[in-house]
Amino acid sequence: MSYEIALIPGDGIGNTVVDASLPLLDAVGDREGITLEYTEFDWGSERYLEQGSMMPDDGVDRLRPHDAILLGAVGHPDIPDHVTLRGLMLPIRKRLNQQVCKRPSILYEGVESPLRGYEGGDIDFVVFRENTEGEYADVGGREHRGFDHELAIQSAVFTREGTETVVRAAFEAARERDGKLTNVTKSNAQAYGMVLWDEIVAELSEEYPDVEVERLLVDAAAMDFIRRPEAFDVVVASNLFGDILTDVGAIIAGSMGLAPSANLCVDGDAPSMFEPVHGSAPDIAGQGIANPLATVLSGAMLFDELGEPAAAGRLRRVVREQLADPNAPRTPDLGGDSGTEAVVADLLDRLED
Ligand code: NAD
Ligand code: IPM
Ligand code: MN
Repeated sequence: MSYEIALIPGDGIGNTVVDASLPLLDAVGDREGITLEYTEFDWGSERYLEQGSMMPDDGVDRLRPHDAILLGAVGHPDIPDHVTLRGLMLPIRKRLNQQVCKRPSILYEGVESPLRGYEGGDIDFVVFRENTEGEYADVGGREHRGFDHELAIQSAVFTREGTETVVRAAFEAARERDGKLTNVTKSNAQAYGMVLWDEIVAELSEEYPDVEVERLLVDAAAMDFIRRPEAFDVVVASNLFGDILTDVGAIIAGSMGLAPSANLCVDGDAPSMFEPVHGSAPDIAGQGIANPLATVLSGAMLFDELGEPAAAGRLRRVVREQLADPNAPRTPDLGGDSGTEAVVADLLDRLED
């Protein structure tokens, strides 16, 4: 099979980790009879600095014909983040209707968690984050600035359709996993959107009697990600809460450099987008030491969504094997002193014919 993949390396370490991952995706593809045809888009902050926009006006439409999108990261220290992100990544998620963001958190064998007493295999959950609305809806925002009493209004939007879509995806995943769903809201303070959200979870749970539903307020959930991460199986949360919780999920599983993510267009009308959870990491950009594994594991999620589970399995197998090997190269975020390229070269060596 052959697939058309749009590449958006973006900014900072986004370039490093996408470039590093491609030979590995190709090598796995070769072994599984899969050809990935790439179209690279040089969109991002450099383009903004030269031409005044992050991507062309018809950028999102140019992505539509592809089978999937692989994105590195977006963000530049000299440009406000709301300009770069609202100029590139957020409109892609929104306009390609990638309503469900899936972010697994797995503590692999051989990786040290900052949590005392946790070892490989002890943490294994997945967060389903609502991905196009909620606190990121950007609807009805207003500002009254330049006066003594300045005011800015940032609204949050929860539609029944958007909420049902992510909640249903989470129930389906729970049914396939350990049958446990944690619904994270802040409905004690947010009486409108979050109460609708809770009602939708309660309604859908009637359709999934085999799934046990737990309710947690987001502040308590943040605590419990640290206190009892082993207790989570599938977590469902709004856009902002899912964003915050998945950074916590990444670090308790060892590093931001290990956390993959899939932005899924569940109705299949547009391509899904795969990207590491982390950002452009200006603090280490250009040093060749970014951990490529979050992007490699995002590549495994990409293969899964293309309907190529054998390729996904191969990729995950070599990553697991490498992390479990105390003599394998590791980037500094995992306590090693190797660079991005050495990690990928070692993974290539581990691929079986
Ligand atoms: P970040 O994820 O870029 O970095 C946070 C910390 O984690 C840094 O210390 C960084 O060095 C480390 N880190 C991240 N990825 C790593 C990797 N692969 N290997 C080793 N270490 C890694 O978050 P930030 O510093 O808050 O944001 C930097 C920029 O990225 C900002 O402009 C932000 O808006 C943007 N951002 C973009 C995305 C995205 O494109 N999806 C996600 C998050 C942040
Ligand atoms: C992420 C990022 C983005 C988000 C930012 C950069 C807008 O933090 O993908 O987790 O909040 O979705
Ligand atoms: Mn984030």
